[in-house]
Amino acid sequence: MSTVWNGVANGARRRIHMQEVGTRDGLQVEAAFVATEAKIALVNALSESGLAKIEVTAFVSPQAIPALRDAEIVMREITRQSGVVYTALVPNVRGAERAIEAGTDELNLVMSVSETHNLANLRMTREQSFAALSQVAALAVAAGVGVNISLSCSFGCPMEGEVPEATVLGWAQRFVEQIGVGGVTLCDTTGMAFPGQVEALTRGFRARWPDTELTLHFHNTRGMGLANVLAAIDAGADRFDASLGGIGGCPYAPGATGNVCSEEIVHALDVMGYDTGVDLAQLIAAAQRLPGLIGHDIPSQIVKAGRRLDLHPVPADFAATRARALARDR
Ligand code: COA
Ligand code: ZN
Repeated sequence: MSTVWNGVANGARRRIHMQEVGTRDGLQVEAAFVATEAKIALVNALSESGLAKIEVTAFVSPQAIPALRDAEIVMREITRQSGVVYTALVPNVRGAERAIEAGTDELNLVMSVSETHNLANLRMTREQSFAALSQVAALAVAAGVGVNISLSCSFGCPMEGEVPEATVLGWAQRFVEQIGVGGVTLCDTTGMAFPGQVEALTRGFRARWPDTELTLHFHNTRGMGLANVLAAIDAGADRFDASLGGIGGCPYAPGATGNVCSEEIVHALDVMGYDTGVDLAQLIAAAQRLPGLIGHDIPSQIVKAGRRLDLHPVPADFAATRARALARDR
């Protein structure tokens, strides 16, 4: 049997950067408040697994997202690993001041490319968001902190439907060319993306801004998460958000479900020959902690089923079965 290694090109494994969003996108919708110490311990465990970036928390209004009201303490008290970028979601100037003060490496700005979703989620028009985020970016630059913009609903809006590619790329252009952000994340906030669309938007973005760090952020709402990751890789993407255990979802997106699951994506990319740099066993061990922290089961198929080559014991009656089968040949 010949093995097809999708992840190997010209004899080298292709590098895919994995970014963990479980402690932000994941925990923001959980009813149970995960204790600050447990959050810090979880980030510390994730830090050692080889992830490129960790979205530690969100500096948002504690009334809007009570689950992350301890953002400062978590950001300050985690143990930093060199090589890992510690980012946090920031919606406004107040959030930027808090995040910079707490020592965040990168501010992940957020707005929606859908007017309706932006108003529902952030209570601002898109133009108001852009004006506010311009100020946020200026603060970050002055503080020597990186800036990424996450564009929600880049693959469709649950309230407006299709969002034209020109609209998505138009907002990306304003952030890249007017504000000078270092990275853009195209977010499939509610799992509306499908592979052909992902491929087209990824190619469109890559062709226009080859030097801008591009991240794809998928939710598995309709079971297309991994298919979308693979389509994006084919179109030139090499950086993905994913959440431990597959937890997460936007509180203002009806029927929202978890992000693509970190250990499922790493497992799939590993078996295909890509180099994620992530120690899958450590990631699985971290995911196994989650049910105890959030008080319910997690979607992760890998935590349920184990890895592809995790071997299982033979049935108890195996020796007798084999003896009977072999006896038929005598
Ligand atoms: N950090 C802490 N507190 C903040 C804050 C921030 N970044 N931004 C606003 N606040 C506080 C204000 O001080 C004010 O507090 P007060 O009522 O005690 O005076 C209160 O929140 C309301 O402030 P206001 O500026 O009127 O904001 P708003 O009510 O219009 O809310 C957002 C706007 C963006 C701050 C809020 O909707 C939010 O944080 N949303 C987060 C949404 C999110 O994270 N969604 C999931 C990720 S996509
Ligand atoms: Zn998300």
